[in-house]
Formats: sequence, C-alpha cells, structure tokens
Amino acid sequence: MARIALMAAAVVLAFLAAAPVTEVAAKKWTVGDNKFWNPNVNYTVWAQDKHFYLDDWLYFVYERNQFNVIEVNETNYISCNSDNPIANWSRGSGRDVVHLNVTRHYYLISGNSGGCYSGMKLSVLVEKPPLPPPASAPIINNARRAFTVSGFAPQFVIRVAVFAVIGLLWDNVGTGLFGN
Ligand SMILES: *[C@@H]1O[C@H](CO)[C@@H](O)[C@H](O)[C@H]1NC(C)=O
Ligand SMILES: *[C@@H]1O[C@H](CO)[C@@H](O)[C@H](O)[C@H]1NC(C)=O
Ligand SMILES: *[C@@H]1O[C@H](CO)[C@@H](O)[C@H](O)[C@H]1NC(C)=O
Ligand SMILES: *[C@@H]1O[C@H](CO)[C@@H](O)[C@H](O)[C@H]1NC(C)=O
Repeated sequence: MARIALMAAAVVLAFLAAAPVTEVAAKKWTVGDNKFWNPNVNYTVWAQDKHFYLDDWLYFVYERNQFNVIEVNETNYISCNSDNPIANWSRGSGRDVVHLNVTRHYYLISGNSGGCYSGMKLSVLVEKPPLPPPASAPIINNARRAFTVSGFAPQFVIRVAVFAVIGLLWDNVGTGLFGN
C-alpha cells in the first residue's frame, strides 16, 4: 500500500513538474513558407523578420533528387562550398527537420546542382527564448508559438511519456515484489 501511495504521489509530482513546460513551446518553421526549399527564393528576406529560439525546428521541403540540406560554417556559406560540411541534415526523403538545439548561428545550404548559387542558402541566429510573460498578461506570443511538429499539444505528449515511465516502474516493482 505504501508503494501505491508513493506511486500516486509521483504521478502528481510529475504532472506539476510538467505543467511549466507548456509555457514555452517550440515552433516549427517551414523554410520558405509556401515556396519551400527551392532556387530563386531569397532566404535572407524570408528570415529577416523572424526570431528563431532555442529548440525551434526548421522544416525543409524540397525535390529530393536535386537538392539537400547541408550545414557549413560561415565562410563556406558565403562561398557556397559544401565540401567540408559540419552536418548533413538530409535523410533522403526531401523532408528534413533541423532541431535548433544550440544558441548560435546556423548556416544551411543546398550543396547539389548549384542550388546554393541560385539562392538556396539560409542563415539563422538561434536565440534564448524570451522569459514567458506573467500568467495574468495576454498569452498571444505563446499561442503564436504553438508546437506543431507532432500535431499533439506538448502537455499531452509529456503526460503520455510520464504514464509510460510510471508503467515501466510499476512493471519492474511488480516483478521485484512477486519474483516472476
Ligand atoms: C570554415 O571551414 C574552412 C575549411 O573548410 C576554413 O578554411 C575556414 O576558416 C572556416 N571558417 C570559419 C569562419 O570558421
Ligand atoms: C546526406 O545523408 C543522406 C542520407 O544518409 C545521403 O543519402 C546523402 O548522400 C548525404 N549527402 C551528403 C552530401 O553527404
Ligand atoms: C544538438 O543536436 C545535435 C545533432 O542532433 C547533437 O549532436 C548535439 O549533441 C545536440 N546538442 C545539444 C547541446 O543538445
Ligand atoms: C536577398 O535580399 C537581400 C536583402 O534585400 C539582399 O541583400 C541579397 O543580395 C539578396 N540575395 C540574393 C541571393 O539575391
């Protein structure tokens, strides 16, 4: 019984701990909006009125046989040189996500078929998210930054994950107690 009470307490604590996470939700940016990742789009213009925050995502949609998403340093970004990539974000389907998990500049180019020379180069500066407004203030900014990667609200995902972990613990405790 003590164990069950402990489990119940753990569930309650997990819920309380998970709640603040919903305040700062990551945003998924479709690069180029409805022009996607294509030649003859100016991605400097696309990015210039946007703020990219830690844990946001860039979503690249493109013709997989012609283009790709290669991360390079600033020098190679300027010169469209993909010979010394920092990372290859292409996974082969023409639908790639870049998780912006570090606050720094990211330089992304398409290294194939001269895509970069036709404008397929994007530089973003990833910033720390601003502090969430006080609970009483309007939540317009947070609403705008709604999380859309999974289609599920983050609090849902977190709670499902919490249940999964609790279930796992439960199974192991059961095994330990009853020796089967
Ligand atoms: C980028 O990498 C190249 C080597 O590929 C190097 O020559 C250059 O100095 C680097 N630039 C920066 C800004 O680190
Ligand atoms: C990037 O990785 C993909 C998938 O592993 C691979 O098909 C592609 O050839 C790689 N591109 C470069 C430029 O390394
Ligand atoms: C950020 O993501 C990259 C690529 O997935 C990973 O190698 C790196 O360890 C991550 N860095 C942090 C600080 O999480
Ligand atoms: C994109 O637009 C910016 C700002 O107007 C300009 O400075 C830059 O030269 C343009 N880039 C290309 C590749 O046309």
